[in-house]
Order: sequence, then structure tokens, then C-alpha cells
Amino acid sequence: MKILVFGSYNIDKVYSLPHLPDKGEMLYCSAMETHVGGKGLNQALALKKAGAEVIAAGMVGPDGDYLTDYLNAGGVDASAVGVCDVPTGHSIIGIDPQGRNQMILYGGANRAITEEFCDDLLARHGDADLLLTQYETGCVEYILKRAHEKGVRTAVNPSPYVDAVKELPFDCVDILILNEDEARLMTGETDEKAMLRALYETVKGTVILTLGPRGSLYYDGKETVEAKAFSVNAVDTTGAGDTFTGYCLYALLTGKTPREALTVGSAAAAIAVTQKGAAETIPDRAATEAFLSR
Ligand code: RIB
Repeated sequence: MKILVFGSYNIDKVYSLPHLPDKGEMLYCSAMETHVGGKGLNQALALKKAGAEVIAAGMVGPDGDYLTDYLNAGGVDASAVGVCDVPTGHSIIGIDPQGRNQMILYGGANRAITEEFCDDLLARHGDADLLLTQYETGCVEYILKRAHEKGVRTAVNPSPYVDAVKELPFDCVDILILNEDEARLMTGETDEKAMLRALYETVKGTVILTLGPRGSLYYDGKETVEAKAFSVNAVDTTGAGDTFTGYCLYALLTGKTPREALTVGSAAAAIAVTQKGAAETIPDRAATEAFLSR
């Protein structure tokens, strides 16, 4: 199972705050940590830890070596991550005592991807079983169209959500995986089942909707499946969605039932939120299976 992750590679600066800041408020933080991150990097590692062969593709700047080293050390093939002269993307993340976050993103090198880069990537890796992407890089629309033309299945996590997401070529998307805030903005619906159906009408494929501590939903036009989340003490929810995405997708692609896929995704995400950081907190498969058999 070869998965091509076309995504973002960021340096995460994480600040522990007494609460998330109000407009105009200045806050002291009690701690500052630097972590590896980016939705592409996190999802690539989650897929790898779940069991997939993963090719990570995207762009970093001259200061991004340690992100590609981290991917390679984790068993992800990072040879399709290019280097350009724009600084590596970074995120400034504030975390409150409940583990909730607020984020400022600097796209940097992630936004410097060109159509030529995408063409070359698909010429080399057009045999992938799936292309997974998010909305933190340039050329998302382009890569989806080209991958679809080549017969590569595609999955999109439209995060972070901005209005331009609505213009994506959803006829080229097989699997849509997103959280309830993104789904509400995309559909204008507030009821979860209504969101699910509206999203299905958009992609005419598989829709997976995460609801934070309330669980997750799956709909493929025939079957609706609901799964509960696991109750844990969250310290940092950054990357929880990425962990869920990697584990859930790999399970679905390897023939697990939708319920099994939602459940393993939720278990991996539940472990991840109990520690600070994003990529470093993604559990391996053994830890996830042990958690599920408690
Ligand atoms: O989903 C979490 C990630 O979003 C962080 O690692 C941050 O870099 C942003 O990409």
C-alpha cells in the first residue's frame, strides 16, 4: 500500500498559555517548545506508523533539513520533498490548560510548489495507491486534477478551511476527511447528518467527519457509521486530526470496515492528545492496538 502525501512541512513553535487570547490581549506563556509539524508531515508519519509505505512530497526551505531527516528517521521516504530558497513554513501555536489551541500559519516554502514540481512528482509516483493532500500548500487544485487524470485515487483533508476550498475540483476527490468546523463552513449546515449528506453530494465519494470528543461519522452514499471517541485527559490537541486521518485511512484502504477504521483512528488520536506536540505524539501501531484491547 503506497501512499503519496502531498502536504506541508512546518516548524511548530508551541506556547503554553493560561487561556487562549482575546482580541488585543497580551499574555505571558509559561513554556515554549519547538516541535516538528505541518499537516503533511504529521499525516505522513501517522500513515507510516499505521503500516503504509509512504512517500512524502512538498517543499521546505534551506532551514528545513531537520524535518526531512525526521521523516526519513521515521521510515517515511522524504526524497520527494524539495528544497527552495523560501524559508520553511512555520506555525505559532498557543495552547490553553485544556489542550485547545489557536494557530498562526506562515506558509513559506509550502506555498512555493509549482505545477512543474507536481508533474514531475506524478511522473515518478503515479503508481501510488492514493494521493493524500490538505490545504496548506500551493497547487492543491492542480495536483488533484493531474492525479485523477492518471487514475490515482485521492483523499483530501480540506484544512485549514478558507473560502477557496469550495473551488477545489471535488469531482477528482474520492475521500473527504474533515472536522465539524470545516464541514459547517463548507456546507452552511449545523446538523451533523445534514453536513454529511451535503458533503457526499459534493464529492460523490466517501465522507469522514470528526466531531472531537463526540466521535466520528462515515458516509459513502449507502452506509452511515458512527463511532464514539475515547475519553482521555487532553494536554494538547494539535495534530489529533492528522493522527486520526492517517490511521483511519490506512485501515479503510486495507479492507477494514468503516467502524473499525473510525475506531482505530480515534484510539490513535486519543493517545496523541495526552502529550504535547504533534508529530512526536503519534503512537505506533503496537501502542494503538494495546490501547484498543484495554
Ligand atoms: O494539524 C496540526 C498542524 O497544523 C501543526 O503541526 C501545524 O504545523 C499546522 O500545520
